[in-house]
Amino acid sequence: MKRFDGRNVLITGAARGIGRAFATAFAAEGANVVIADIDIAQARETAAEIGERGHAVQLDVADQQSIDAAIVEADATGGGIDVLINNAALFDLAPLTEISRESFDRLFTVNVAGTLFTLQAVAKAMIARGRGGKIINMASQAGRRGEPLVAVYCATKAAVISLTQSAGLALIKNGINVNAIAPGVVEGEHWDGVDAKFAQYENRPLGEKKRLVGEAVPYGRMGTAEDLIGMAFFLAGPESDYVVAQTYNVDGGNWMS
Ligand SMILES: NC(=O)c1ccc[n+]([C@@H]2O[C@H](COP(=O)([O-])OP(=O)(O)OC[C@H]3O[C@@H](n4cnc5c(N)ncnc54)[C@H](O)[C@@H]3O)[C@@H](O)[C@H]2O)c1
Repeated sequence: MKRFDGRNVLITGAARGIGRAFATAFAAEGANVVIADIDIAQARETAAEIGERGHAVQLDVADQQSIDAAIVEADATGGGIDVLINNAALFDLAPLTEISRESFDRLFTVNVAGTLFTLQAVAKAMIARGRGGKIINMASQAGRRGEPLVAVYCATKAAVISLTQSAGLALIKNGINVNAIAPGVVEGEHWDGVDAKFAQYENRPLGEKKRLVGEAVPYGRMGTAEDLIGMAFFLAGPESDYVVAQTYNVDGGNWMS
């Protein structure tokens, strides 16, 4: 008997990165995983690697019709969503005086509205089935304090922490736990893109920012997606039934709250 045998786990933005590692880990523990991503080709590759427990679904969390269609499809896969991991997000940075409306709108639409309206659609499906569920939002240490070059992304992740609190309080009466994970700095393609943007604005060679942020982590290195799996399992399983509306730092000691 595996920990998530027969459970149905929907993970947004799971084609690559942290979401992909979560999908692989939940499937290895017996779950059926729906890999919902705007990049359907990559989502299909990830699902194929996982095998019979992996299902790819096209989802653009910036588009309500896409959310509605994807949640109907995911909810029908295996008989209802038990766990949602709201993981899809975009990153951008710019000096405060150069932030564009376009970047602001895009990040808030994907990171904040995408999180809220995916959570809303899944919560409705969970309430209709009447057996509760677990919702995990991906926040960030960036949501705990601002950064000079990262105002908009930080604000979106602070909003995710706040939405986790409100949704957690609203949904616990339906047996739905809403909590969040706040990672620190995690190795992968996402941070390669972040490093390239810092290189541009802080006039650094490629790779230097990544090395510096890794050295600054009290644990002694950047995180990996695998470092986050234990917290995801805890928040998706019965051990967290009495945990409501919380955001947990999993960041090697970068932040304390
Ligand atoms: N990597 C880090 O250092 C780090 C740190 C803190 C928090 N986080 C958070 O963890 C989560 C995963 O990060 P990651 O590093 O794996 O990122 P990533 O960029 O590697 O992956 C993001 C995934 O989201 C998908 N996506 C983007 N826009 C989408 C949309 N509109 N609809 C559906 N899918 C969409 C992408 O196709 C991609 O597969 C994000 O919420 C991120 O903000 C990451």
